[in-house]
Amino acid sequence: MTTAILGTGSYLPENTVSNDELANYMDTSDEWISTRTGIRRRHISKGETLTDMAFFAAQEAMENSGIPAEKLDLIIVATVTADCITPSEACLLQERLGAVNAICFDMNAACSGFLFALNTAHLYLQGGMAEHALVIGAELLSKIMDWGDRSTCVLFGDGAGAVVLGKGEHGIKNVIMGSDGARGKALLCSGRPLENLFIKQEVEFPYVHMEGQEVFRFAVRQVPECIEELLQQASVRVGDIRYFILHQANIRIIQSVAKRLQVDIDKFPINLSECGNTSAASIPILLAALNRDGKLQSGDNVILSGFGGGLTWGAVLIEWQ
Ligand code: ACO
Repeated sequence: MTTAILGTGSYLPENTVSNDELANYMDTSDEWISTRTGIRRRHISKGETLTDMAFFAAQEAMENSGIPAEKLDLIIVATVTADCITPSEACLLQERLGAVNAICFDMNAACSGFLFALNTAHLYLQGGMAEHALVIGAELLSKIMDWGDRSTCVLFGDGAGAVVLGKGEHGIKNVIMGSDGARGKALLCSGRPLENLFIKQEVEFPYVHMEGQEVFRFAVRQVPECIEELLQQASVRVGDIRYFILHQANIRIIQSVAKRLQVDIDKFPINLSECGNTSAASIPILLAALNRDGKLQSGDNVILSGFGGGLTWGAVLIEWQ
């Protein structure tokens, strides 16, 4: 028995913001953003908290799976934008769901966070420490954007996606994960600065800073390499993969990966045009949409692949149950 995805769900804030609307606030244009990134609009919270979004995504995934809250014995939330430093987002969610039997904690692996959390939950299930797990990728990135930095703030959006995991005949087959802290400053959001009784200094609120071209070069090299390694490890041919569900950062990254793998771009589902880059949430949001639309059939091989801050990357091969 392996670990199967029993249900999926997602939530996007009601407020959508088009590129043209952003151009009312900063010197940018739909032409600049859409040609370089493929992004046309994104969802930006006007009130939903991270816990609200994670809760709505979790509710849908639980309904979809038929697993009630009391049967969850693990909740992992992948996020870099939790509502509190403590309690963890997973504990806040536990209370809201009434999942009284769950072990709860958060994981930070930026845009790869959902995959890292998925694999952690898989190991809990395979190690016999849990029967059912809820894994969430959720981000409220709009609160850590520098809205005066047009090269970064136009890329990101808010949202949450969720899966419920349990044991199954078909499911997770192979996993690859990697990290390179030496290159981590290419995508940086500092923590709260040190200021206490003994050290006084000007404290500035930390925002995301990105070396866009460096991150681009990292992604277009690392992602296909990692997928090729995964395929080799699993002894599966690239032509046997139904969908490549990539972290939704930039259409040009996805096109480059498709070209390098020599796979038709139609096998790479896209939602970044409507959602922007939602970091840890992008893969489960896309997975939930495909599942909702009935596009995932039993026996389909799908690859999920994430990459981003840390730097971190990963890929998972799943046979849909
Ligand atoms: N609107 C208009 N002009 C802009 C904007 C904007 N929103 N942002 C930057 N510019 C201008 C710059 O000021 C610069 O002008 P100049 O030539 O007069 O100095 C010009 O456009 C080019 O700026 P660059 O930053 O060099 O733009 P680049 O072509 O590298 O594109 C981008 C930027 C789209 C971010 C690109 O580097 C990229 O796709 N990087 C990939 C990284 C990525 O997708 N990260 C997502 C987060 S990380 C992750 O999820 C893994």
